[in-house]
This record gives sequence, C-alpha cells and structure tokens, in this order.
Amino acid sequence: DDKNMDKCYEEVLKLVDQAGELISKRNDSRKEFVCKSGDIDLVTETDQEVEKLLVKGLSSRFPSHKFIGEEDSADGVKEKLTDDPTWIIDPVDGTMNFVHGFPHSCISIALLVDKVPEVAVVYNPMFNQKFTARKGQGSYYNGKKLEVSGQKDLGKALIISEYGTSRDAEKLEAVVKNFKIMAQKAHGIRVLGSAALNMCHVAMGCADANYEMGLHAWDMAAGDLIVREAGGVVMDPTGKPLDIMSRRVLAASSQELALEISKNLTQYYPLPRDD
Ligand code: IPD
Repeated sequence: DDKNMDKCYEEVLKLVDQAGELISKRNDSRKEFVCKSGDIDLVTETDQEVEKLLVKGLSSRFPSHKFIGEEDSADGVKEKLTDDPTWIIDPVDGTMNFVHGFPHSCISIALLVDKVPEVAVVYNPMFNQKFTARKGQGSYYNGKKLEVSGQKDLGKALIISEYGTSRDAEKLEAVVKNFKIMAQKAHGIRVLGSAALNMCHVAMGCADANYEMGLHAWDMAAGDLIVREAGGVVMDPTGKPLDIMSRRVLAASSQELALEISKNLTQYYPLPRDD
C-alpha cells in the first residue's frame, strides 16, 4: 500500500484540506513568530502545527515513508534525500505573508519515490487555490488542466522572483542586480512572497518564468512537478539540471526562455545545501 500512488494522492488531499482550514482561520489574526536562521526567515506556531498534522497523518497511513520538512530542518538537522518514498513538506510557504495577514501563502507538499516527484499539491486556503500534479498525468488548478504560456521571448515575459530571506549584503547585491537586468529586459517583474505559488503561476501560464537562489527543497519540490506537468521546464539557474537540494531554481514556460534568463543572471553560490 505504501507505494500505491493513487492512495497517497487521495490521503494527502484530505490532510491538506484539514491543514488549510487551520491556516485560513488564523490568517487575519496577529501572529507570534521566531526567526529561524537570523535575518527574516520566520516560523510561527501554525507552521509547526501544520507540519505535525501532515507528518502524523501521513506516517500513520504510510509507515515506511520518510519526511523532509521545513520545521523539522529548522533546528539545523539535515536530511539526505534517499530512494525511499519521501514527502517534502513546507507547512506554510510564504510565512512572511502569513504573519502580516497578506492572503498569499500555501501548503506545499510533494512525494518523491526513487528521488523522482510522483505527487504534488500546493494549496492557498485563503483563496481556495489548489494546484495538483501526478507524474505523467498533467497538473491542475482546482480541477482544471494547466498549460504554461509557451512564451519564448524574454521581452514579452512576465517574471516572478523574490528578495529571499537573507539580508547578507553580497547575496542582496546579486538579487538586486538580477532585478535590474530583468527590469531592463523582461516585460515585467512580480514579487509575491511564496516560492511554491510562484512556480504554480508559471504552470498556470499567467507568469512566464520564476527564478530564485536561496530557497529550499520544500519551497520547490511540489512546484517542480506542477510546472513540468504543465509543459514547462525546471532547471538550475545556470542552465544545468535541477538539483532539488541545492537551494536554486529556474522555472519557465519554454526551454528558450529559461536559457535566455539563465544567460542574464548573476549567479550566487555560497548557499549551504539542504542535505
Ligand atoms: C520562503 C518564501 C519566500 C522565498 C524564500 C522561501 P517560507 O518560504 O517562499 O518567498 O523568497 O526563499 O524560503 O520560509 O515562507 O516557507
């Protein structure tokens, strides 16, 4: 039963709905938070509660499954991704938005088997936006099939990126340099505060690309499958293959656009890996 992907998908959807209720109920209230790794990397009680709910629920149904979660990793414990079925979980992606009541955060969860993404769900419960994907079966937004825009031309592309959670001067310099070049060459830039939802917007076709250096495996694992199943590409910002534990991602509506963006980006490397 532990490798029955239909069952896994069914069960995770139920748990995500439960967890979503918790998040949306609390979105408008004031939140206490702690800084996870200095800077502006935040964690709230809700992040911890939601991760517990998901891990407890899934491990009782699938006892052999492993977990890599944001809150689990918050105390510096690093997990290696193995071939075992592994759920990669961000209980609240967009914690900064959540803390402020800005209604744009989500649960992001993906199941990898043999290191290959099989199931992905990204859910923004404030606006009931649910993105789902299964390997080889397409990706969906509230049940409607998704397709990327197919845009190839950077001059016509709407790009999403983030300032990130680090205030390191050198890192910010690279971020700002990249915003500047994209402001000069792309059609437009958006900064929305949730890496997982950023990727889902590329899958939807309402944005054409998204890149970030400094995010984590749990911010991108679900988005990766959702973008690719919508016909998009996901790679490392250098143009090399994606490495989910490397803290770097570039997702786009076409290979041409991805490589054009990659060529223009100032790369930033000193990011401690997730494994
Ligand atoms: C963060 C958000 C943010 C992105 C960071 C992520 P979190 O996730 O997705 O938009 O810039 O890199 O770590 O901490 O809110 O789960």
